[in-house]
Amino acid sequence: TYFIVFDTWWASVRDIVLYWPEWIIVVILELLWLCLTFLLPVPGCPRGYLGPGGIGDDGKYPNCTGGAAGYIDKWLLGEDHMYHHPTCKEMYKTTQPFDPEGTLGTINSIVLAFFGLQAGKIILMYRQQPLSILKRFLIWAVLLGFISAILTKCTQNEGFIPINKNLWSLSFVTTLSCFSFVLLGIMFYVIDVKKWWGGQPFIFPGMNSILIYVASSLLGTYFPFRWEMKYATSHAEPLFQHLLATSLWVLIAYLFYKKKFFLKI
Ligand SMILES: *[C@@H]1O[C@H](CO)[C@@H](O)[C@H](O)[C@H]1NC(C)=O
Repeated sequence: TYFIVFDTWWASVRDIVLYWPEWIIVVILELLWLCLTFLLPVPGCPRGYLGPGGIGDDGKYPNCTGGAAGYIDKWLLGEDHMYHHPTCKEMYKTTQPFDPEGTLGTINSIVLAFFGLQAGKIILMYRQQPLSILKRFLIWAVLLGFISAILTKCTQNEGFIPINKNLWSLSFVTTLSCFSFVLLGIMFYVIDVKKWWGGQPFIFPGMNSILIYVASSLLGTYFPFRWEMKYATSHAEPLFQHLLATSLWVLIAYLFYKKKFFLKI
């Protein structure tokens, strides 16, 4: 059905133009995230605070963990329904609950998923033209990388919006999508275009990701996937344990692959 648009001026960007209502919704969602994050007044905290609270920032804002994101979850969900062991607790001695998959962060996780959807649309719409696909992946990677560079001022922890997984900050989303477009482009070229490699062994757990995810959640704490470590403070034993567990799950996935058993929703 796409042949109709081939002679219009926007034919080369039809993977974007044909989805203009979705783009408007995503832009509105992102503006909502930016406004709530930087303009919402949070009692006792500086506006637009993005830090961990606790002893971070010289201990000036001990109860401001996550700024607006934390505040919205406390107001919307209540402290009893929030995560009480965020990763900042140990490092920054925080006392406040904070949800790394909170309400505000969900907005940006939607934006991240939308970039994945965009990659899928590119693959489907330019199916017969691998070069067109690679070109578009590259353009997205450069654009998102450029935005990330500005937002973070090319630093690891600073900038206008620092990369922060717990907050699903905008720079976290743009940086991750940039890397993903690069990686997907390389994989697409090596696996689909050149057929140099079939994606093994990653294809086995990839084809059964739900099964492996559920099985490792249920059994991951038992032997032989995990055991009480004798040298837990060394790096060698945990490394060996994780490598062994991962290899075992890949092997299990391979056996299911051979049996052609795929758990799907
Ligand atoms: C932070 O919250 C704790 C209780 O969670 C309270 O005891 C403490 O006074 C608060 N600190 C500030 C600076 O508001």
